[in-house]
Amino acid sequence: MRKIAMLVGPALLLAAWGAAGASVAWASDDEAVYVRQIMQGGIGTATTDLWAVGNKAMGDEGGIDPALMDDASWAKLEKSAELLESEARGMAQAEIIRAAVAEEADYEEPGTYSMADVQSYIDADPQAFRDLAGALGDHAAALAEAARNKDTATAGTLVDGLDSACEACHAKYWYPNG
Ligand code: HEC
Repeated sequence: MRKIAMLVGPALLLAAWGAAGASVAWASDDEAVYVRQIMQGGIGTATTDLWAVGNKAMGDEGGIDPALMDDASWAKLEKSAELLESEARGMAQAEIIRAAVAEEADYEEPGTYSMADVQSYIDADPQAFRDLAGALGDHAAALAEAARNKDTATAGTLVDGLDSACEACHAKYWYPNG
């Protein structure tokens, strides 16, 4: 199955604006991470790049076909996995976890969820959020290592399994009600 970077495309258009908003609105709140900005920013960028490599080099049975990988692809895979790891570790170590920056705190996806909902899910169990972020960080670290070693089998398995690490957290903190 080809991975399509669902939702990432349009989200990225907002990323620069979101980052600027973050530094202005919460300048004193520097212990906090802003989940929406991270998803639309580093996590989105890293995952789009990573799946681009995976899709291009996908073997007939999934995984990665080594014949379709070159040095540039390995380097791109390593770099995007490293970015993913550092963004995930940032969330795993955060003291304060905010769904969104102040300007977007009222954001609502009509009929589905709002940032206030997401914040309430996070506040109900912030430690499990950090743990799931840590699990994504571990997954990304293992992928970066496999890319450094040009270990096709391990890298292929980890690229294929990445969306479960995303989904585990989304199911609990983004749309637990479906
Ligand atoms: C530790 C929890 C956690 C993990 C792990 C996680 N996410 Fe998220 N993600 C969230 C939450 C909470 C939201 C809802 C906030 C929102 O709507 O922006 C979200 C929303 C998103 C969005 C929508 C952003 C928008 O514009 O509304 C995208 C895209 C996304 N995540 C991508 C990913 C990808 C790709 C991965 C895995 C590589 C991932 N996420 C892993 C918690 C997580």
